[in-house]
Amino acid sequence: ENSGTDPKNLRVKLVLLGDSGVGKSCIVLRFVRGQFDPTSKVTVGASFLSQTLALEDSTTVKFEIWDTAGQERYAALAPLYYRGAGAAIVVYDITSSESFNKAQYWVKMYVDHGLHLTSINHELQKHGSPDMIMALVGNKADLHDNRSVSSQDAQEYAERNTMFFIETSAKTADNINQLFEEIAKRLP
Ligand code: GTP
Ligand code: MG
Repeated sequence: ENSGTDPKNLRVKLVLLGDSGVGKSCIVLRFVRGQFDPTSKVTVGASFLSQTLALEDSTTVKFEIWDTAGQERYAALAPLYYRGAGAAIVVYDITSSESFNKAQYWVKMYVDHGLHLTSINHELQKHGSPDMIMALVGNKADLHDNRSVSSQDAQEYAERNTMFFIETSAKTADNINQLFEEIAKRLP
């Protein structure tokens, strides 16, 4: 609730994690440019984009987005990108239970890393470590006829890990803006 105060201009470093091919780059392209590229190329290393979102109360949020590469060979690079991030979007493909398993691996890795940082940094601990906002995203919701991960299983997993859960389609744009708005609303 921000009524009666000046509009805020917030900034957040956000990282996308998840298996190769789940649609991370397509989600970002949809959010930043309003486009969908069915021939999207595999990401090499990571790519950086930014986008500013205006909320209803005229708060603006600048997302500094690191779109990481999901291919196994880049796995060791991920911590470079999620270090210091205020938010993480962990993506799977609703037609691939393999990608859902992989998403759980990313969540665990990110959480362990965050806890580790807190325990070694006493200043951070004293002032309370800034909460990392985590979203679990089931993408390719337009392919519901081939669904292999139930919404309920994903929702329950998300709740157990204090994440919020949403299903999106970068192809149809379904829930893409809502995803970023939900993150914006949770910012400290
Ligand atoms: P890496 O860069 O290798 O980690 O993969 P990525 O997660 O960035 O995947 P990318 O965004 O490149 O998407 C891979 C392919 O999935 C795209 O070329 C699209 O054809 C398809 N795709 C992405 N999002 C959707 C979606 O919402 N619906 C459908 N039907 N296809 C999608
Ligand atoms: Mg990509």
